[in-house]
Amino acid sequence: LNGTIPLSDAWSGYIQHAQSHIQSNPRLYIAVLLNIPVVAIVLNVLAQLLIPRRATDPPVVFHWLPFIGSAIAYGNDPLNFFFEAQKKYGDVFTFILLGRRVTVALGPKGNNFILGGKSTVFNAEDAYTHLTTPVFGKEVVYDVPNEVFMEQKRFVKVGLSAENLKAYVGMIEEEIEEFLARDPAFKVFQKGDPNEWGSFETVKVMQEITILTASRTLQGKEVRSGMDKSFAERYNDLDNGFTPINFMFPNLPLPSYRRRDRAQAQMSKFYVDIIKKRRAGHDDHEHDMIAALMQQKYRNGRTLNDREIAHIMIALLMAGQHTSSATGSWALLHLAANPKVADAVYQEQVKHFQGPDGRMRSMTYEELRELPVLDSVIRETLRMHPPIHSIMRYVRDDVPVPATLSAPSKDGIYVVPKGHYVMASPAVSQVDPTVWKDASVWDPSRWNDTDGVAAQAFKMYTDESGEKIDYGFGAVSKGTESPYQPFGAGRHRCIGEQFAYLQLGTLISTIIRHLELKIEKVPEHNYHTMITMPLPPRDIQYKRRTKA
Ligand code: HEM
Repeated sequence: LNGTIPLSDAWSGYIQHAQSHIQSNPRLYIAVLLNIPVVAIVLNVLAQLLIPRRATDPPVVFHWLPFIGSAIAYGNDPLNFFFEAQKKYGDVFTFILLGRRVTVALGPKGNNFILGGKSTVFNAEDAYTHLTTPVFGKEVVYDVPNEVFMEQKRFVKVGLSAENLKAYVGMIEEEIEEFLARDPAFKVFQKGDPNEWGSFETVKVMQEITILTASRTLQGKEVRSGMDKSFAERYNDLDNGFTPINFMFPNLPLPSYRRRDRAQAQMSKFYVDIIKKRRAGHDDHEHDMIAALMQQKYRNGRTLNDREIAHIMIALLMAGQHTSSATGSWALLHLAANPKVADAVYQEQVKHFQGPDGRMRSMTYEELRELPVLDSVIRETLRMHPPIHSIMRYVRDDVPVPATLSAPSKDGIYVVPKGHYVMASPAVSQVDPTVWKDASVWDPSRWNDTDGVAAQAFKMYTDESGEKIDYGFGAVSKGTESPYQPFGAGRHRCIGEQFAYLQLGTLISTIIRHLELKIEKVPEHNYHTMITMPLPPRDIQYKRRTKA
């Protein structure tokens, strides 16, 4: 304390005396050192129990350890942590996360409060840029003011037009067929005997298929053909810089941080070289994202420079890779554990696409969108396993919590103070037992009941005729109060939704056309990664449906 806080002379003298006494006595010195953590814990607990909080402050989740706060409980199982805290404190509460004060608002109203908030008060750049900018690169996403990023989202939407998506279905199908025909995990399939069982590591296979299909379509020919060992290494180094540790500690003097920075520079150059070649005249790439971005202009008439395009491409690679591969993994794991549902998906394919010779033909984009069983499998998987369990914003100004969200106490309403973070978790409302019947059971059929909760939640989320709002990247359904929001809501709502549905739909159909799957038990969640993954072991057994 001495020197850091202005103290009265009497206190300063007392502290100096104590200091010299401790320093001259090594045993006492060690004892004091050893006891500092204990004293800190005791003071932290006493402060929570004895110091009255301001009436407008949301309640703070009780925690033993100062600084660390509730990081361990939250990090191990955020949903369980949220549900437990909700029981004690209601829908709005604050918890300590490694020194940060994070105010959570749960339920559809909580989601609306945070995701529907203005970027001038609930700010995403301030919350995420230290994690994303070293990975994506400068001048894009959270490294630029929100209105610029909204324009960049608009550019990306052009690249994700229905016309482009139509061109992608066949490419994705082909890419997966080729994967099944050559990857060592599918040796048993390749042998051609429909009675023999093999197995594959779900997440590994899904990650490989996701990056191959995304690069064949969105990322473009040069990226697909440049996907060699060194690309994989660069990608891995970038990916290893995108972890909860990087979120908490943006810059540590560790090799993984240095590898991240080197990989970012190399990846950026890789894309810039492609763009330069295209600008020099090699551009027969009408359907990919680079082509779309090269044609866009900001509102002030400026076109995107090479770095911006390169860094948006890296951002898209990262944004789509784990979200889609995790969802694909969960979907296949559930289908393997529920053969009846897998059979229903298969029969739907047979009904629509099997010709008189018994062979299945390719799907079109329009046909893919009209397959209710397949659709319900994806929706239900995203309900139970939304890849992003927590969405954060930094609070730039004091914000009163609406009275409808936290029942006002006699002292007034809560205010989230400037300097806090806010956190929404649509994942909580998606498995809230007070909203969903058998909330923890994976049951795609719940989406077929046109009057059921699921259909209503979906309508509220996507409603074409409902309230729309344009944040700068085209009108989107507001959807902020739906209990189903796997793609977020508001100005930061996902723009990859249609692409993800197409990628996942084609993936699931193609796998189910060829393979019967089985697994004894769907694995538990691993929350230690940025994106919620299934814990190992997660091998799925498979066998061919028909003879080669
Ligand atoms: C934003 C989920 C796939 C690009 C988001 C958000 C969520 C989400 C929850 C909101 C984040 C926030 O509010 O902070 C998903 C899921 C996916 C998926 C569940 C797949 C199953 C994709 C794909 C792409 C993509 C394939 C790109 C092709 C984006 C972008 C944003 C976004 C650009 C905007 C971020 C912002 O405005 O701050 N996504 N996503 N996503 N996603 Fe996705």
